[in-house]
Amino acid sequence: MEILVDTVNLDEIKKYQQMLHLSGVTSNPTIFKKEGRVDFFDHLRKIREIIGTDETLHVQAVGDTTEEIEADAHRILQEIDHQVYIKIPTNEVGLKAMKALKKEGVHVTATAIYTVFQGELAMTVGADYLAPYYNRMLNMNIDAAQVINELALAIKLSHSKTKILAASFHNVAQVTDAFKNGAQAATIGTDVIASGLKAPMISAAVSDFKNDWQSLYGNQTIAT
Ligand code: E4P
Repeated sequence: MEILVDTVNLDEIKKYQQMLHLSGVTSNPTIFKKEGRVDFFDHLRKIREIIGTDETLHVQAVGDTTEEIEADAHRILQEIDHQVYIKIPTNEVGLKAMKALKKEGVHVTATAIYTVFQGELAMTVGADYLAPYYNRMLNMNIDAAQVINELALAIKLSHSKTKILAASFHNVAQVTDAFKNGAQAATIGTDVIASGLKAPMISAAVSDFKNDWQSLYGNQTIAT
């Protein structure tokens, strides 16, 4: 099970790096926009410094044509390093770019996946990760859990090395459903992770234990 954070905020990445066994960081232009107009490559280099090369860094190509996507990929690899996973939309121009880039040995994350069919096509060109958009699928009345389940089955049946990196989560139930249906990885917004750890019932349990401790030992602590 791989947990990635869907943010480019350096403080948040550092925070969750200390708290979790992080497998990587994912980004897209919308996520970058939340940081203001930072220097794109410089910011990605800072992220790489924090996470090192054992963790995966996924960066979205924004070109409209196959050639532009390939040029984006080459520039990102040149500016950051060759370990970066290039996120490419799973459409006609994107699949063509994925195929060419995989032949060069570039790491590829096939993104904007809403259907099993898109995922299957990306698998056949050798995408390393498939990124099905959980919440966006639900918004379109698509059964996201079923799509992930069928993609996981397709990967298993074809003995493919491709992994499912589920994305676009708006609550913790969506994340656990993605794992339950066979996703190997999930990229989660830090707001969603925080909401899953700050639930009032967790604080209530902690508070009950504290009160019972104090009723027994007063202000004495375990450590002292
Ligand atoms: C992955 O990095 C995706 O781009 C991202 O999870 C999409 O999330 P959203 O649907 O909340 O924009």
